[in-house]
Amino acid sequence: PSASQTLAEASPFHIGFAISPARIQNIALYRQTVIQEANSITADVAMKPSRISPQKGVYKFEEADQLIAFAQSQKKRIHGHTLVWYIDTSPTWLKQIRDSTELESTLQSYIQTVATHFKGKVASWDVVNEAFDKQGAIRTDSLEGPGRPTFNVGKILGKDYVARMFQYAHNADPDARLFYNDYAQETRPAKLEAILAMVADFKRRGVPIHGLGLQMHISIDTPDAGIENAIRRYAETGLLVHISELDIAMNPDKKKDFVPTPELLEKQYEKYKFVVSTYKKVVPASQQFGITMWGVDDGTSWIPGFCKCADNVLLFDANYVKKRSYQGFLEGLKE
Ligand code: G3I
Repeated sequence: PSASQTLAEASPFHIGFAISPARIQNIALYRQTVIQEANSITADVAMKPSRISPQKGVYKFEEADQLIAFAQSQKKRIHGHTLVWYIDTSPTWLKQIRDSTELESTLQSYIQTVATHFKGKVASWDVVNEAFDKQGAIRTDSLEGPGRPTFNVGKILGKDYVARMFQYAHNADPDARLFYNDYAQETRPAKLEAILAMVADFKRRGVPIHGLGLQMHISIDTPDAGIENAIRRYAETGLLVHISELDIAMNPDKKKDFVPTPELLEKQYEKYKFVVSTYKKVVPASQQFGITMWGVDDGTSWIPGFCKCADNVLLFDANYVKKRSYQGFLEGLKE
């Protein structure tokens, strides 16, 4: 293998980035990095309900279609994200529905419309995102703060709503690979067990599910054993396994004056290498859906806005220069 191989070239499985159509259009180095390093893309926001259906009965596909056109012209796979999510991306009009019959039929028709629109273009979907809380119960409360409407989909529709959403997606596009996507399975055993129990239940009942997404918003301090355990247990289901939103924080204490020292960058390199090599070794090749980075460069990552702190969680710095973490990812692919 030559030293100049890109991630996609060096990888036996798909390498993805979560991207936005505006940045693809406006930032040349961002676009170039995605074209060179990835062969799969996920929309970071553009395919969420709040963007696709900002008002009741209104569908706006322009932004998402722009991404599809980019992906098609560059021959990249597109992973759909996400049909149902309790959190803030659900549009306000949807969150205001309190009647279970109305909410059920609204979500059914949303899924039907969206999965039909993208049929043949989007071959896989995160159907439901983050349905479980950290104790492993179906969420019945939203995390959102005062003044914002909560979307207690689990409370209104009952815990079996997840299965029904998968069935609706399957009815709309029987060829699509359907994923359940969530975070913190590395550190929250109860959540991991709950997801595995759901998969077993779906299999028993014939509910169509084909894959599991491990978001993996982790830090350099996340224990290796938890990471390996989550990947292994997911692989044991026999479903496709997607590391779907990888980033590795170096400033878990959210210090305002954080500076990435060479020591921390080295720890980040090690952690990327561990995640990638573990995925490659533990997940059978036929189940390797791929690894998707949640963002391209440290300058446009979601983390600093979220933690209200500085951090450098990705593979490229804000000038699109490869970091040690990039090297760790690449070495992990070759282990
Ligand atoms: O584009 C608008 C802009 O026009 C407006 O002026 C500005 C003001 O708030 O908002 C901009 O939209 C923001 C959007 O990101 C684009 O940057 C939204 O407010 C903001 O809520 C949105 O955040 C995204 C978040 O999901 C909610 O959709 C993050 O970028 C995205 O990285 C994050 O991704 C999630 C995954 O979907 C699920 N797993 C966790 C992950 C991180 O939270």
